[in-house]
Amino acid sequence: MIPVTKPYLPSLDKYKHLLDGIYQRHWLTNAGPLTKELTIRLEEYLGVKNLLLVSNGTLALQVAMKALKLPEQSKIVTTPFTFVATSGAIAWEGHQTHFSDINSKSLNLCSEQLLEHHQSAEALMGVHVFGNPCDVNKLDALKHLFGNKVIYDAAHAFSVQYQGQSVLNYGDASTLSFHATKLFHTVEGGAIVFKHNDDFELAKQIINFGLDNQGQGLPEIVGINAKMSEMHAAMGLAVLDDIEFIIAKRLALIEQYKHLLAGVVEFQQWHINSQSNGAYMPVVFKDEAELLNVLTALNSESIFPRRYFYPSLNTSKAFDNGQRCPVSESIASKILCLPLYVDLEESQVKIICKLIIQNISQ
Ligand SMILES: Cc1ncc(COP(=O)(O)O)c(C=O)c1O
Repeated sequence: MIPVTKPYLPSLDKYKHLLDGIYQRHWLTNAGPLTKELTIRLEEYLGVKNLLLVSNGTLALQVAMKALKLPEQSKIVTTPFTFVATSGAIAWEGHQTHFSDINSKSLNLCSEQLLEHHQSAEALMGVHVFGNPCDVNKLDALKHLFGNKVIYDAAHAFSVQYQGQSVLNYGDASTLSFHATKLFHTVEGGAIVFKHNDDFELAKQIINFGLDNQGQGLPEIVGINAKMSEMHAAMGLAVLDDIEFIIAKRLALIEQYKHLLAGVVEFQQWHINSQSNGAYMPVVFKDEAELLNVLTALNSESIFPRRYFYPSLNTSKAFDNGQRCPVSESIASKILCLPLYVDLEESQVKIICKLIIQNISQ
């Protein structure tokens, strides 16, 4: 069986060693030493400051919106071509999702389209889809139209550089997911990178039940529990040791896919000022019929790519608000993410590509 992804597991001895320390200290959660160490190492590795570890990427989005103090029931403009958690987090915070269509090549929000959707918007939530950076400079220039608040869902953009610095340094806040299936993971987990210190300090309080930051245990604001545990941080530290190897292996597989499938399918167009982090291997077929043909053929050989992201959220039962986004709807109907993980073998990539080529309409 070849799944779409397989969580990376670091050396068990290394993980056990970190767990031994937790057992000795009896410090399992609440800003323990491993959480602190992971924060420092991630800030260094990513080239960011004000990084706050949280328990998952969905809460990262919710806490970011709270920390930026968006007015109640804000209209937040975002993309329909993303994982459901982006719109889910907006709705869960009581805000309104307003969709703006994507660019068919980058698969990210289209900056021209955005101009049609800013009326009475309070914030913009971009998504760096499959790790590909949004046009952050253009979006930044439009910031005043969106309540001067820009949040990036950077769940896929771990380690992505844009014009020589981390893409996480753009926007007022960028959120990451460290779910087991991500390039870098802590089993479950996530992080928020804040541009402004004040938002960062407030978010620290929010993820710890709203208790004061001075450690007196006094509830000062309404908060939530979104802390990362020491066990999760331990996994993160062990995976982070291997991150260069993980990325290099995945990039090599992507190169092989691209070589074998050149001219057969379309690839996402990566931003000219950035380079792939090897997070996903999306391919776009001619139409949905072609995609379904290929999917059936692959499934019959126990190969399971995934329809990321399907459907376009504006047509989903949960988020259909009557808006039409033709580009996103079209792309969602014909895009497939191919298997990509460190253990995937070159011979398996060859088999997958051969099956794709055999099953597309000429
Ligand atoms: C674009 C996007 N946003 C948010 C999330 C939510 O992250 P998590 O699963 O860590 O809650 C995901 C996760 O899969 C995602 O792909």
